Amino acid sequence: LLADSLYIINNFARDYFQETLTNSEEGQNIGLSYFEERGFTAETIQKFQLGYCLNTRDAFVNTAIQKGYSLEYLQKTGLVTIRNEQPADNYRGRVIFPIHNQSGKVLGFGARILGKHDKAPKYINSPENEIYFKSKVLYGTYFARHAIDKLDECLLVEGYTDVISLHQAGIENVVASSGTSLTQDQLRLIRKYTNNLTILYDGDNAGVKAALRGLDMAVEEGLNVKLVLIPDKEDPDSYVQKIGAEAFREFIAQNKQDFILFKLHTSLKDVGNDTQRKSQLVNEIAETIAKIDKVEDFTKQQDYIRQCSTLLNIDETAMVQLVNRFIR
Ligand code: CTP
Ligand code: MN
Ligand code: MN
Ligand code: MN
Ligand code: MN
Repeated sequence: LLADSLYIINNFARDYFQETLTNSEEGQNIGLSYFEERGFTAETIQKFQLGYCLNTRDAFVNTAIQKGYSLEYLQKTGLVTIRNEQPADNYRGRVIFPIHNQSGKVLGFGARILGKHDKAPKYINSPENEIYFKSKVLYGTYFARHAIDKLDECLLVEGYTDVISLHQAGIENVVASSGTSLTQDQLRLIRKYTNNLTILYDGDNAGVKAALRGLDMAVEEGLNVKLVLIPDKEDPDSYVQKIGAEAFREFIAQNKQDFILFKLHTSLKDVGNDTQRKSQLVNEIAETIAKIDKVEDFTKQQDYIRQCSTLLNIDETAMVQLVNRFIR
């Protein structure tokens, strides 16, 4: 079966890149020291099965073909491309982050360039194929699922290294959207484990925008969404490495804010005295509140109506009517 073949190739590649990282001279000098400089311990590197792809044209693909793996399937996984009519390693000179499904099988890889990246992209990720569907995967689910279940909360971050650093700091209920905006499938995956989602996005504009985009979808999916904005210029990885595990936990606990109220506050700042924009905002908020399942969560919806009408300085009964108009 094609899918099985792709899993087998990914397994082989994962082992090969891990071996290269820890046992080759180039792997140690370049890959391993890169991870060490980023503060990853040997245990962490082992746990996440991190690797390194040699900076040669075709060391990996040659070994793979020698072992009997088909070139066609190697290309399907994105590990190999054809360059000047010859097979070539796609991730050469990059460190490797295997991407696992919930049960630990390797679906694909993220490969990060070392040093500056003006010309080439910082990360190259596996292409979609018979086993890897970007929009259905959250990085880290395999390592996080027990902690998410136990703590009844899932933290969502942007990147691979955010997941890894938080794990190392003992915060294990964390998965990454890998830079894409959240999809319905990813939210359903989270809902299998918990109803409580806390988004830890970068504090820059892009992070806030990306977070807001997921809101209505998450509410619709029945999730209670909280938000923590990481200080500007930092991400969860850099910030936890900077202030330490304990202070980071404290920071999360003290800066967790309700997502709907956050949206309202940020939008109110933009609206100012513009009445047209205000009524537009009132509509938007009503529409979001309407998405909360009334049957399951009647008091929750009531609470939001009360708080939001106060903040918007409008009549509560009017807000109730407006919300009802959006309920189909
Ligand atoms: N990403 C990607 N391709 C890029 C840039 C980013 O796929 N060219 C994805 C990766 O999954 C990355 C995530 O978006 O982990 C977040 O991007 P960013 O914050 O720029 O990267 P970091 O995760 O912070 O990576 P690093 O700390 O290694 O720079
Ligand atoms: Mn970036
Ligand atoms: Mn970012
Ligand atoms: Mn980072
Ligand atoms: Mn980042």
